[in-house]
Formats: sequence, structure tokens, C-alpha cells
Amino acid sequence: AEQKATNVTWHDHRVSKEERCQQNGHKGAVLWFTGLSGSGKSTIANTVDHKLFEQGKHTFVLDGDNIRMGLNKNLGFSPEDRTENIRRIGEVSKLYTDAGILVMTAFISPYREDRDQVREILGDGEFIEVFVKASLETCEERDPKGLYKKARAGEIKGFTGIDAPYEEPEKAELILDSDGKGIDDLADEVVAYLESNGYLS
Ligand code: PPS
Repeated sequence: AEQKATNVTWHDHRVSKEERCQQNGHKGAVLWFTGLSGSGKSTIANTVDHKLFEQGKHTFVLDGDNIRMGLNKNLGFSPEDRTENIRRIGEVSKLYTDAGILVMTAFISPYREDRDQVREILGDGEFIEVFVKASLETCEERDPKGLYKKARAGEIKGFTGIDAPYEEPEKAELILDSDGKGIDDLADEVVAYLESNGYLS
């Protein structure tokens, strides 16, 4: 977005990101979960959060509960609003990353370009795209909030997967098979990825 503020100067922080990470004993990064409504993004992210928290890591989850009801409560589900939703969440997750935290975001984030924009603003290796892959059939069957049913009935317009697009990632760092595996196994896959790629030390 356009820079509107003028006469704004950048203040150098005295504590570097590296020093924060050294003290925390792990890297700061964003695990960007993306997938259809009902694919399991939020549940998996919260399970990973819990597992890492128990290991003493500094973690946090951004999801609909704390973002769409607060920071982004003025945004709906038009393409423009979704793009702005993701842009703001991207900026917030960058702040968390700079603070040395492992932040997990759980938003549909249906547009590839929007996700790539977030990847752009983060440093090398700081953006981990996690595709929570579940077929539309599976998600519709789960339909935890009854929204697919409403979308099929035409009571909700522009619902992702029904009459609004979902663009699958082409270069996700991790693909989770949410059709075939359970939450706990998938969360373990995420933790194993972090472990073997040096994020946890
Ligand atoms: S987005 O596309 O990334 O901006 O969406 P997100 O912030 O993740 O919000 C998705 C949740 O909002 C509910 N909801 C809708 N989803 C998709 N399309 C439409 N039109 C819509 N309207 C409401 C829905 O419960 C999504 O829930 P999740 O948590 O993804 O299952």
C-alpha cells in the first residue's frame, strides 16, 4: 500500500533480532497456514502452538478470533477486503517475527499473490507456507459452522470454494494431508519440519 505518512523517520532498535533469537533459543518466523474453510488450519496451528509452548518456545497464533474481531473488524470478504486482511496480518506477523517469536497464522488467504506479498516482506527463511490440503468434499462434509450449507443455498455470496476462488500454493514449504491424517500427526509434521530446518535452536 501507498506510504501516506511523511516526516517519519526509522528508529534503530538497540536490541537486534539476532540477540532476541539467541536469548529465546530459537528463530523467529511465520508459519503461514492456508487452505479452505474447514480444512483444519486453526486447529492444527493451535496444536503446534501448544506443542512448542510446552517445549518452552515463544509462540503465538493469529486467527479469526483475534484478528477479524479486532484489528480487521472493518473488513469483509470481498476480494479487496481479503487482500487488505492478508496484508495487515502479514505486517503483524513480520512484527512478531522481528520480536523473535514463532507466529502461526490461520487464514484462508485464497490469493497466491497476497501470500507471495507477505513472503516478500519477510526475510529469507522467515516465511513458511503451510498448505493445509483438504478436498472441498471433505470440508463441506465437516462444515463445522454450517457455512457451506448456507453458501450452497445462496444465503452467503462469494464463499471460498463455492463461488469464490481458492488458489492453491505452488511453492509451499509444507503440504499437510488433511484428508488422510489426523490433527496430532499433522502438527507433529510441522514441528519436525521446524526441528530439521534449524528453527528450534
Ligand atoms: S480470508 O479469505 O483469508 O480473508 O478469510 P479469513 O480471514 O481466513 O476468514 C475465513 C472465515 O470466515 C468465515 N467466512 C467466510 N469464509 C470464506 N468466504 C466467505 N464468504 C466467508 N464468510 C464468512 C468462515 O467461517 C471462515 O472460517 P475458517 O476459519 O477458515 O474455517
